[in-house]
Amino acid sequence: MDQKSQHLEHERGSWGSNFGFLMAAVGSAVGLGNIWGFPYKMGMTGGFAFLIVYLILVVVVGCVVMLGELALGRKTGRGAVGAYMQFSKKHKWVGFLGVIAGFCLLAFYNVLGGMVMRYMFGFFFEVVGIDGFAGQGTGFFGFLLYDYGGMLFFHVLFVIINILIVMGGVESGIEKFSSVAMPALFFILLFVVVYIAFQDGAAEGYAFMFKPDFSAMSGFSGFLNVLKTAAGQMFFSLSLGMGCMITYGSYLDKKEDLQKNAIIIPACDTLIAIMAGMAVLPACAAYDVPYASGPGLLFTSMQQVFTNMGEFGAFVGFLFYFLVFIAAVTSSISLLEVVCTYRIDRAIDKGVKPNRQKITCIAAGLIFVVGLPVALDALGSGGAIFPAPFEIIGYQAAEGYKVPMAIDCWLDFFDTISEGVLMPFGALAMSVLIGWVYKTKKAVVPECEQAGHKFWGYGFFNVCFKFIVPAIMILVLVAQVIDFFVPKPL
Ligand code: PFF
Repeated sequence: MDQKSQHLEHERGSWGSNFGFLMAAVGSAVGLGNIWGFPYKMGMTGGFAFLIVYLILVVVVGCVVMLGELALGRKTGRGAVGAYMQFSKKHKWVGFLGVIAGFCLLAFYNVLGGMVMRYMFGFFFEVVGIDGFAGQGTGFFGFLLYDYGGMLFFHVLFVIINILIVMGGVESGIEKFSSVAMPALFFILLFVVVYIAFQDGAAEGYAFMFKPDFSAMSGFSGFLNVLKTAAGQMFFSLSLGMGCMITYGSYLDKKEDLQKNAIIIPACDTLIAIMAGMAVLPACAAYDVPYASGPGLLFTSMQQVFTNMGEFGAFVGFLFYFLVFIAAVTSSISLLEVVCTYRIDRAIDKGVKPNRQKITCIAAGLIFVVGLPVALDALGSGGAIFPAPFEIIGYQAAEGYKVPMAIDCWLDFFDTISEGVLMPFGALAMSVLIGWVYKTKKAVVPECEQAGHKFWGYGFFNVCFKFIVPAIMILVLVAQVIDFFVPKPL
């Protein structure tokens, strides 16, 4: 690094404290994946069996990839692309996969964030006595998809909130926001969990989650189904495989204990996911809404729960969507930061002072434009102002089959690229590089032993980097590609 670049290093920013870093990293991890994906995947994959497999995977894959990403980031002091570049120019493509994945993920995450805000305001208006959902009931979702003005308005609003936070920088923007938002999210979720616990019929939901029952895993294909669903959910939920934790790790002070952080983040993320399950599944049980209702769970099913709840329904509904909103923002800012850091690092490496404000606005603006089809295709329900991918290419589903997920709507299209392909591939490439090329001993251990900390898990982490993570990631990659590209029966 030349002198000029060194002089600009402080322009990258850094976390003010380890607590601030933890709140930001847990904020990134806790998102729609926890409050939406975890309960509905658990609902569709046998409850308890899913939970057990998920917990095992968090230990043998989640904590390991988390440590690898944090170590790469902090060792190099660079985001996704820059970190791999410092090892070898030949590996920078792995970082680019991350930046592209972040871009695609954010294209639809912003739209979902906007929809969550709409539900939040809907219930808020009901609480204060203005017509929110009244008159529309659970038909609201169908209305919302074709209400293009509303979709655009909330999409823009969500993007602006992201820009304002990320523009503030690492410490004064992301850390400050997360340090207030994450504890707030925890206490609101706790309140909702306790409130739901007192509703008649909630016990059935807990039994589904916690009563030992492995029937969903009977036979090899049953086991594989639970394993691939839990593994895909786990690494998405932990924000792994696309350089997000590399980026956040690059702002972390050398004196902080990496190994401890790599355990705390997955532990907190998993706790919140289980708590979200304990809010959503017993609520569904108490108000006669099916758990296995799939992706509709966050919007239609939960709205029905709050509508059926009666007197306090609107207030609890508002709180619920408010916490989902917080979860979505603390995740989307981390995605935006991955994209922005790429440009910031590049400027610094060239010896040019980076303009964070300008970079943030341009990146968020581009992502907003790319996300427009997601907001305007009515999620592929047909007849929308913007055609879905399958409509554009004139794809006709075979008799008795659905359109493959990869092209059924723009949300799933971007999800296929990011969550389906790039993220598992990124995590696979990272663990192979650490385990076999850079070597755990050189790339990870010295970073974990900074400031006199002890690294006690070398044997375990090394075996995981070399064998277990790659094997699980190959399974996830193959399973997701099949899931996204092969048409399913109606
Ligand atoms: N972990 C987030 C969730 O559970 O919704 C999603 C996510 C955020 C994935 C950031 C990847 C990422 F880099």
